[in-house]
Amino acid sequence: MKKAIAIIGLTAVIAANSQAAAVTVTLACGAVGQELELCKAGADRWAKKTGNTVKIFESPNLTNDRLGLYQQQLAAKSSDIDVYQLDVVWPGLLSQHFVDLKTKVPAAEVNQHFKGIVAANTVNGKLVALPWFTDAGLLYYRTDLLTKYGYKTAPKTWAEMAAMAKKIQDGEQKTNKSFTGFVWQGKNYEGLTCNALEWVVSFGGGTIIDDKGNVTINNARAAAALDAAASWVKSVSPAGVTTYGEEEARGIFQSGNAAFMRNWPYAWALGQGDDSKIKGKIGVAPLPSGTGGKPAATLGGWQLGVSTYSKNQATAISLVRYLAGPEEQKIRAIEGTYNPTIERLYKDQAILKANPFFGSLLSVFTNAVARPSGPTKSKYNQVSQAFSSAVSDVLNGKSKGAAAVAKLSTDLARIKGRGW
Ligand code: GLC
Repeated sequence: MKKAIAIIGLTAVIAANSQAAAVTVTLACGAVGQELELCKAGADRWAKKTGNTVKIFESPNLTNDRLGLYQQQLAAKSSDIDVYQLDVVWPGLLSQHFVDLKTKVPAAEVNQHFKGIVAANTVNGKLVALPWFTDAGLLYYRTDLLTKYGYKTAPKTWAEMAAMAKKIQDGEQKTNKSFTGFVWQGKNYEGLTCNALEWVVSFGGGTIIDDKGNVTINNARAAAALDAAASWVKSVSPAGVTTYGEEEARGIFQSGNAAFMRNWPYAWALGQGDDSKIKGKIGVAPLPSGTGGKPAATLGGWQLGVSTYSKNQATAISLVRYLAGPEEQKIRAIEGTYNPTIERLYKDQAILKANPFFGSLLSVFTNAVARPSGPTKSKYNQVSQAFSSAVSDVLNGKSKGAAAVAKLSTDLARIKGRGW
């Protein structure tokens, strides 16, 4: 008994001396592409530096499934997960469950991140999470096939893209039945909201809901954008595209079976990997524009927040500060094409060498269009689900663009009627 007390006493002294005893914190990170692997590696680097341990909580692939799971944990006030990886559209939805990092992280450290992303993470003055990486939709294309079919540059409009995709598809299918023109995220989930927002904005059809919270989706340009996308299904895109998420699209493009792909930056590092069939044959361009519009990329990205139910908040904050810091963001940019949220890293030569388009397409990243999560706050998820379901109906031929946006507008007004 005496011995045990002595040991506890010793542990207490060590703890007091090193400020905090070594603890285990649990980190919930993503699992798309290399996400899990790079998340584990980063957590290990921090663990080595601090003597703490990190347990990784494996999250589902689709952002909607992650949200559902996290909401269950948070509603139960569970202390099982200390640090959560949060989608850029979630802070308004989940802010009450997270520690205010404003008072815990020095302002200079917060201010090294892009202002707009810090703003997206700030809810009623509370800094819900620290930015970890940012995302924007991009058009990937096969440089070798564009040359083979006589094209000098990537398409500037969706109509041009569809015509090029058709010509390349017709030619390639003579020897490869699995070849398709264009792959993207057409499954009814958050990824479809991102893709469809790009079409609608690029046709000049607005952002579903404007900054002031007005529903703007019921317009002819938005309808035309959805009809254009529906025309790709079963012509330049396979019927199955309406079931694809990010990874399904990447799988097809990376195995050499598509001319064009819409995806996030992470697909670059994997496409250029040694086991990729298209290594050295990939071009990246801004997404095309619609009739009378201009190109648009949806703003995505992920942040790290500390749960208020965590029993190890100080240690969890230390982990978040390390992972969101410049050293780790640089490694992730080089190894996985995860776009830094720290502005000065876009001038880092090693990062630019690994990902040349970080420099040439910088304006795509800095001008990316936000989904309406700011104005719709806790209702964003309902809004997004209503939007992606309406889009899905058009893609599956159940509705035409004009009827879909009219009905959606009524549905959104009903959600708004309950307050946002
Ligand atoms: C990417 C984006 C995220 C978006 C998701 C949709 O992970 O970073 O913001 O919600 O894709 O699938």
